[in-house]
Amino acid sequence: AQLAVLAELNRKLYFGTATDNPELSNASYVRQLSNTLDFHQLTPANSMKWDATEPERGVFNFTGGDQIVSQAERHGQIMRGHNCVWHNQLPDWVTAGNFDNATLLSIVENHCGTLVGHYKGRIFSTATNIALLLNFSNRRLGCPQWYNSASSVKLLVAYLSLTEIFNDDGTFRQTVFFNTTGTAYIKTALRAARKADPHAKLYINDFNIEGSGPKATAVANLVKELRAEGVPIDGIGVQSHLIVGEVPTTMQQNLQFLASTGAEVALTELDIRMTLPNTPALTEQQTKDYDTVITACKNVERCIGVTLWDWTDKFSWVPGTFAGQGDACPWDDNFNKKPAYFGIVKGW
Ligand code: XIL
Repeated sequence: AQLAVLAELNRKLYFGTATDNPELSNASYVRQLSNTLDFHQLTPANSMKWDATEPERGVFNFTGGDQIVSQAERHGQIMRGHNCVWHNQLPDWVTAGNFDNATLLSIVENHCGTLVGHYKGRIFSTATNIALLLNFSNRRLGCPQWYNSASSVKLLVAYLSLTEIFNDDGTFRQTVFFNTTGTAYIKTALRAARKADPHAKLYINDFNIEGSGPKATAVANLVKELRAEGVPIDGIGVQSHLIVGEVPTTMQQNLQFLASTGAEVALTELDIRMTLPNTPALTEQQTKDYDTVITACKNVERCIGVTLWDWTDKFSWVPGTFAGQGDACPWDDNFNKKPAYFGIVKGW
């Protein structure tokens, strides 16, 4: 059995992976990326970020994002957008613009609205999406009970709208957005995205919220506050950039806790890295860790799907970001399945 098939059997809506534009010129890579038995969902790793999509104020470029969307569309895969507002990969004109509160809010509004609006009705048209949803989950295996509601049509465009807005201690991160507007930008971004595409699911997305702790609590509290105020927010993206041997023991109960806010939950950027060199013991532990993470999502009804932060070590972001670490993905550099792959299979 393969990953996407197993996710469906366990009444999840998708199993997917991040991908990036330069990788699409590698034919063997694209062959596996297009394999819908493993992946029925894609996330662009970089090309929908602010520096790529609005490099100059008011000048938008969707070339890279469109390429990934076309790749998904050709194979009937669904897309998650990524992302509207993040403090990284911002163009200088945003970070160094010294905008006042009102101006920065209008910039956030325009950015989110234009990005989400661009993809509205293209691959994400409701008709296409419902067809995909039916094809992947409903018709074949039955949609999860809670998903058979009017709001289910909103699933298929999920934007990780707000990425990494908290510090690990649960306080707000000091970003250009927070420093200028306080928390006002959060509502502005979400409302602009909702207006631009009412069928898009809107997520807040963060790391170090896999296990219980002050950051997970802060995210849950914010989501509850926003929902109480009627600000649109549909889901919590749990990035899941994890370390071999350090998967939080509270992961499953914490996913349940996050879902208790009323939002749905997704594992949005899963990889499990190790300090190199790899050893048989590390490989064994990593296999168990993938199993543990997948089991946690499986056991939480409102955990709707899982996305790898790329499926092959060849294109993993880990070695370039964490010195001396790597081997984080379920496929190796040569696109061969690793024991980690079978850890995922076991978890489902
Ligand atoms: C990473 C990309 O994979 C890299 O190619 C890029 O250089 C930096 O960003 N959390 C996120 C993702 O939300 O957007 C990040 O992606 C990884 C951490």
